[in-house]
Order: sequence, then structure tokens, then C-alpha cells
Amino acid sequence: MSPTSSQSKPYMALLPCSFLFLLMLCLANAQPSPGYYISAKHSPISFYSGYNTLWGPQHQTVSPDQSSVTIWLDKSSGSGFKSRQPYRNGYFAASIKLQAGYTAGVNTAFYLSNNEAHPGFHDEVDMEFLGTIPGKPYTLQTNVYVMGSGDGRIVGREMRFHLWFDPTVDFHNYAILWNPDEIVYFVDDIPIRQYLRKNDATYPRRPMWAYGTIWDASPWATENGKYKADYRYQPFVSRFTKFLIGGCSAFASPNCQPVPSSPTGYGLSNMQYMAMRWVQQNYLVYNYCTNSTKDHSLTPEC
Ligand SMILES: *[C@@H]1O[C@H](CO)[C@@H](O)[C@H](O)[C@H]1NC(C)=O
Repeated sequence: MSPTSSQSKPYMALLPCSFLFLLMLCLANAQPSPGYYISAKHSPISFYSGYNTLWGPQHQTVSPDQSSVTIWLDKSSGSGFKSRQPYRNGYFAASIKLQAGYTAGVNTAFYLSNNEAHPGFHDEVDMEFLGTIPGKPYTLQTNVYVMGSGDGRIVGREMRFHLWFDPTVDFHNYAILWNPDEIVYFVDDIPIRQYLRKNDATYPRRPMWAYGTIWDASPWATENGKYKADYRYQPFVSRFTKFLIGGCSAFASPNCQPVPSSPTGYGLSNMQYMAMRWVQQNYLVYNYCTNSTKDHSLTPEC
């Protein structure tokens, strides 16, 4: 063996090694399959069969075929829509595309609430897209409120995520499943958060309506209020399409069956659970349960 050939050996060995390493990195960061596509179990409905304009009608357009709605925020107003019916459980999804560029302070929300029926002690299940500044990613905030501020304290259960794609480029499916056992948030059918019913005090049980809104949340939305809505960049536009609703309206017969989160019925499948773990390991940026300055006496689920 010549000195040159022996020297080349470690170099030769490094090539396949680094290739394998890169391949493993890629695999580790690839979007996993949830194995079950809950959105495919439902057919898109027309906007007006599920929803009505709630506020800011002049800041909202429905496509002629009623498949899509565009809502926007400018200096004069935001806009919102609300489901025609209250639901006692359900699967609520929409494909949403967000605005690129400077969107700090802007909050695009898709959520369930009964705040109009129970002001001051309402329940709420939120997905909120928190606008951002160029070069920084959107944050998807999920939250669960139970009985609102009924005891004088508002107990938020925020979990915030970044996404594994740019939500301003394409429409993606975002969904809230709320059934008697659990709340599951899905992004493109991947569960990102599961909130189990552990007891009645920490679980929303009264009928809720579904909402979509765009509004100015400058005091807190972007880096805790550091960046505010800047109306030089108005209008701030969010697009919703492929509305899916499953489950039981508040007026449905008692035989109505809630939507299960997985093919097995109760709870997530192993594959869904693995996919959720991938999201939480890679994209979870805030979890209320691990915030040590928070008073956890009212969040025993932590
Ligand atoms: C942690 O909880 C405190 C008290 O509720 C809150 O003021 C603070 O904003 C939370 N931290 C983050 C990063 O959200």
C-alpha cells in the first residue's frame, strides 16, 4: 500500500457516510404521513350553506360559485363570518392562504366559540395565524378556553407552532376536531395538538359556533406586541376555501354520531401520534404547560 492510497481511504469512507447522514437529515425533516386523512372523509360545502357574514361585509367577498371567501383588514375594518348553526361537537376545516410580506399585528382566526351566547364565561377553541415581519415565519397559535373568565381569571392554554411550509404560497387544510372525548388540531391532516377531556371543568361542553375572522391584534400578536399592524401595507387579505363541516349541530337528533379522530375511534392511531410528535419536536415554539411563570392551579391537565 502506498501512502497516498492509505491516505485516500478515510476520505473515500466519508463520502457515502456524509451522503447517508444528509439522507437521514432529510428523512427526519420530511412531513410524515398521518396514515389517516380525516379531511377526505368530508365533502366541501358552499360558503353560505355553512356560514353567514357576521361583520365587515364590505371587507368580504364570496366567489360566484360560493366555494371561497376572501376577508381583509384595512385601517377602517376587519371582517368575520360565523356558522349558521351552533354545534355540540364537530369537525371544522378550511383551506386557508395567508398574505405574504409585512403582516405584523394581523390575526387571521378560524375558531369555535360561544361568546355571544355566554358573554363573560364562554368556551373557545382557537386556531390563530399571527402575522409577522418579512423574513420571519407566521406563528399558528392554538388555544382552549373553558368557561372564559367566569371566575374573574382568563385561563389560556396556548400552544404555538411554526409550520413546515410557507402558508402564504398555497392553500393548506387547517382543522379543529371537537368531540366529546378530545380536541385535535390538524394541519394538512397531521395532528399537531391533542387536548383530552380529563374532567368537565377543563373541557368545553356547551354548543359552539365556528368563525373565521381577520382583525388587528397589534397589542400582543407579533412578538408580544413588539411589531404592530402597519396600514401602509393594507389591505391584509386572507383567503378561505374548501369548507368542511362534520359532526352534530345543536339541533341534531340525539343519535347523531360525533366525528372520531382516527379510524380506530377513540384517540389517535400510532401513526397519527408519531406524526404529531414530529410536529411538536420540530415546530412547537411555545407550550403553556411549560411556562413556569404561569399559574397552573387552573390547568391541572399540565
Ligand atoms: C408565560 O405566562 C405569563 C403569565 O401568564 C405570560 O405573561 C407570558 O406572556 C407567558 N410567556 C409566553 C412566552 O407567552
